[in-house]
Amino acid sequence: MADSPAPARTPLGQLVIRTIAMPADTNASGDVFGGWLMSQMDIGGAILAHQVARCRVTTVAVEAMTFHFPVLVGDTIACFAELRRVGRTSMQIHLEVWVQRHFEATELRVTDGVFTYVALDGTGHPQPVYREGNPRPE
Ligand SMILES: CC(C)(COP(=O)(O)OP(=O)(O)OC[C@H]1O[C@@H](n2cnc3c(N)ncnc32)[C@H](O)[C@@H]1OP(=O)(O)O)[C@@H](O)C(=O)NCCC(=O)NCCS
Repeated sequence: MADSPAPARTPLGQLVIRTIAMPADTNASGDVFGGWLMSQMDIGGAILAHQVARCRVTTVAVEAMTFHFPVLVGDTIACFAELRRVGRTSMQIHLEVWVQRHFEATELRVTDGVFTYVALDGTGHPQPVYREGNPRPE
């Protein structure tokens, strides 16, 4: 029996950010900064963490960041977030960025990483992540 082709990899998680890499996001060589991409991922992960915790959140750790391919000016970037683990006050979120190059139909996964966010109370201290059935945080 002939081998069936491997299924195409699709983004994991939900779309949280879609934007375009602009010239202002580049370094002196004209390449898009990894830091800019990380900030998009940080914001995208915070959007999901905020939806989950239903309160103020902050980033406590970033790990397992890998840059697979460069991002070019004009690329449309799409950031996808997937909740991996909920602790007492923390949430681990896997983030991927996919790009669509100018005039090309295919999408390419350019980076991924795991970000950890902490739910905060009004004074900036960790508080338990909201769970169904618990009192809603103020
Ligand atoms: C996030 C912060 C409030 C945590 O305060 P803290 O006193 O360390 O709190 P805790 O030790 O109780 O840790 C809170 C949670 O974070 C987790 N955590 C702490 N450090 C971590 C790390 N390096 N990696 C992964 N998780 C971590 C803990 O395991 C805990 O999770 P849990 O409750 O689900 O078990 C504090 O470290 C802080 O304000 N950091 C700066 C955050 C910030 O400014 N981020 C933006 C960077 S520009």
